[in-house]
Amino acid sequence: MLLNRLLKIAKSLARKGYLLLDRLDKALEQNPDSGVHTYLVKRAASRYDMTTSADEPYYAERYGDFISKELKSLEIEGGHLFDLACGQGRLILELARRGIQFDNITGADFSGDILNQCRQILDDTLPGNSVVLKESDIHKFVENMDDNSADVMLLLEVLYMVFEPEKIYGQLSKKLRPGGVAFLSLRSDLFYALTLLKQGLYENTEQVVHGNVGDIFGSGVNLNWTNSAQILREFPEKYGLEVTAFMGIGSCSGIPGDPLDHICRPSQLDEKAYNYLAQLEQTMGSRHPDSGRYILFCVTKAASIEAKG
Ligand SMILES: C[S@@+](CC[C@H](N)C(=O)[O-])C[C@H]1O[C@@H](n2cnc3c(N)ncnc32)[C@H](O)[C@@H]1O
Repeated sequence: MLLNRLLKIAKSLARKGYLLLDRLDKALEQNPDSGVHTYLVKRAASRYDMTTSADEPYYAERYGDFISKELKSLEIEGGHLFDLACGQGRLILELARRGIQFDNITGADFSGDILNQCRQILDDTLPGNSVVLKESDIHKFVENMDDNSADVMLLLEVLYMVFEPEKIYGQLSKKLRPGGVAFLSLRSDLFYALTLLKQGLYENTEQVVHGNVGDIFGSGVNLNWTNSAQILREFPEKYGLEVTAFMGIGSCSGIPGDPLDHICRPSQLDEKAYNYLAQLEQTMGSRHPDSGRYILFCVTKAASIEAKG
């Protein structure tokens, strides 16, 4: 009798416990744990040197090709460059290597470890440089920038892992000076669809088809994705920015883990093949911007638009 009563009490407590955990789980699904996300992103970033990892210098060159061409055609010279989520400073170095000069350069990243690495690399490679580095979350940094203060903004390989990137897109036309330009690279839905297939996560592909945000790999990191049609529609309409050029970065190649890594990794090519790949990706990337590791594009603020406070 006593045992029976105890079992009933235990079952009732277990049921209440289950309901509580279930509610908690559902709530967490709707509000992904930003603490875990941030911890994982910082940890991964500080263990991966974008300036020396085997294939990354090749992709830095592709960014350099695109950015230098656009700066030239927009006749932008000097001014203030903001490299947001600058990492180890790979893009600052790439632009300096090409002789592209700015009056001021500010890099920001939310990882103090990364910024220490960045400082060291910049000082070793560009002795006497005056690059200012600031430790800040990208949302806070953009919010606190003066209006009309940026000639050039780089937001590369970061926004796909930032919560509510739309809030940042919405600030760009305020923070750019009239005529200024921002370069962004985002993940395409196609890239994540192929990566999920590669990992055998077939059931998660629906999320990519029907949504544009989520922890699709179950890794604790919240991701978002888009496509060039959506960018072309939304940036002018929602954010008052003109999209002036597109490019797929890595349309025919990849780093380990990418869908196309088995086709070609730049670091495994001899000089001749490397140059062929660069040429091929230049053409394929501009014809098929969604096909790559990232969709790279640039947006400008019309010279006649003044920021409103
Ligand atoms: C893949 S790396 C790209 C670095 C650099 N943009 C490049 O292309 O070489 C991503 C960087 O974004 C930073 N990051 C990620 N989320 C961030 C956030 N919310 N605020 C500021 N930095 C962030 C990471 O610390 C890391 O340095």
